[in-house]
Amino acid sequence: MPRLDPHSYNESTQPETETLDWRARVDFRTRRLHAEVTLTLKEASAGPLDLDTRELDIRAVVDAQGKPLPFQLAPAEPILGSRLRIELPAGLRQLTVRYRTSPEASALQWLTPSQTAGGQHPFLFSQCQAIHARSVIPLQDTPRIRVRYKAALTLPKALKAVMAAGFVRREEPGVEAVEHYEMPQPIPPYLLAFAVGSLTSKELGPRSRVWAEPELLEDAAAEFEDVDAMLRVAESLFGPYDWERFDLLTMPPSFPYGGMENPRLTFLTPTLLAGDKSLVNVVAHELAHSWTGNLVTNASAEHFWLNEGFTVFAERRILEALEGKEVTALHAALGRRSLETAIEHFRAHPQHTVLRTHLTGIDPDEVFSQVPYEKGYLLLCALEEAVGRQAFDAYLKRYIDTFRFRALTTEDWVAFTERELPGALVQVNAEAYLHQPGLPPAAPSLRSSRLEGLQRLKGTVPSAEAVRDWTPAEWQLFLEWLPTDTPRETIRALDERFHFTKSTNSEVLVSWLVAALRARYAPALERAESFLGEVGRMKYLKPLYSTLHSTSEYRGKAREIFQKYAERYHPIARQGIEGILSRA
Ligand code: BES
Ligand code: ZN
Repeated sequence: MPRLDPHSYNESTQPETETLDWRARVDFRTRRLHAEVTLTLKEASAGPLDLDTRELDIRAVVDAQGKPLPFQLAPAEPILGSRLRIELPAGLRQLTVRYRTSPEASALQWLTPSQTAGGQHPFLFSQCQAIHARSVIPLQDTPRIRVRYKAALTLPKALKAVMAAGFVRREEPGVEAVEHYEMPQPIPPYLLAFAVGSLTSKELGPRSRVWAEPELLEDAAAEFEDVDAMLRVAESLFGPYDWERFDLLTMPPSFPYGGMENPRLTFLTPTLLAGDKSLVNVVAHELAHSWTGNLVTNASAEHFWLNEGFTVFAERRILEALEGKEVTALHAALGRRSLETAIEHFRAHPQHTVLRTHLTGIDPDEVFSQVPYEKGYLLLCALEEAVGRQAFDAYLKRYIDTFRFRALTTEDWVAFTERELPGALVQVNAEAYLHQPGLPPAAPSLRSSRLEGLQRLKGTVPSAEAVRDWTPAEWQLFLEWLPTDTPRETIRALDERFHFTKSTNSEVLVSWLVAALRARYAPALERAESFLGEVGRMKYLKPLYSTLHSTSEYRGKAREIFQKYAERYHPIARQGIEGILSRA
């Protein structure tokens, strides 16, 4: 039977879920959700219904009258989890699964009070992309099937629950509180998201507020205060914002990503709080997903570039409108550098550097890289260059309009683009981006005078005068461009002049630490060790652990640091680093 998504047990001939009604009790003591979910199908149908699950303890499956339905939970497969097959009697449209989650649920991180900013209350959050929703709710975990949902979370009264959905009400019946949410727009399951903790909020604009632990709230509000202007710019570029609100949630430091575009409530790493708004391009990125990703959605992880490549392109259009072409060119150059690094990283597995991937038997987390982001971005830049900005902007709007609230494949995209921009795909050699590994020879690059200035200083120890007006992006680029064999004396001289080891900009700091560790510069080891205990963002953990692991003197240290801090990291991050440390 046809399975269209290699990461789901869903069979395309089976009925699709239309809505979910989810009720869960958050138990911090046992680290479990005690839950039940009612699935309403688009149409009544008899026969088997296969749901995705991972490490769920299924207690019962019942129909709308509470009558048990026969089900089978298959043994777990390593990537997909366990298929839950339910036999539907004729005429059934609604069923309820009673279950509890595992303390090791891959989508959830349970934090002790000491892992939070306030230190007083525990914290729980979800991260479902790409295929972790199934560890929280038994469902058809493929972005091809969108659902609306209602949710009721029961939690300790001292805490607040937030969801990537519309708030309905909070009740406080006894010692616990119940928070009701409702998601009226249909979403792919990977966008289901919630967090529970000591959370407060501050208004940022008519459609936005920021949530954070009280200790971080003022800093977060200051860093993100321009979000409303960003929202208006994005609407002028991509059309009306369809999700009513754009709220932000400042996560605990172990959040494994920079940002996650959970609809109505973007999740953001606290490492963005640099104090100078220099990292708000991540907010622009997550906002841009409101159109590319959340409205127009990749049909499976094999088409992930449609989410991320388009979103990087949209992010940089927002950035250009707000901060100009020079700043955007610096970000594009940083992206280009990270693409080169990713291609180098996959030199033994070039098939992971094509945009249209083939992932049967492959865990999407394992092959996550900057390739879909930056190679996708370059393909869209090449197309824009070929047809001109005006025509490309119109094309983008039609793309969003045509596929809104739908999922598409790369093949659907090619057909659409051939129709809308005849000849353009051939002209830019889209084939090389979509199906061939590595960097396409004719890939475009942005020109800028700041970039040229920077290029002239590559590998030198510049004078204080030369760097007087550098932004963090320029510092980072300068560091990223340091030759891998930069002598320790040069590293020391740079640190003495510019104090990188003390940088409070996480991007600059990590680029610096990687370069300095390679040169075996001792102060960097100490700083890397403390930093690895402070943050859990994979973008930082991976290069730091990789560099330590591939530097023979530091290999043992890498293991030691990981053993010390592994418990603090998110399950997805922990798995990623275990992979790095087990490399030869
Ligand atoms: N959707 C991604 C994060 C993600 C990707 C989570 C795949 C799980 C699986 C998010 O939009 C993202 O790309 N975040 C980037 C931000 C950046 C590109 C500005 C990050 O986390 O660094
Ligand atoms: Zn993204």
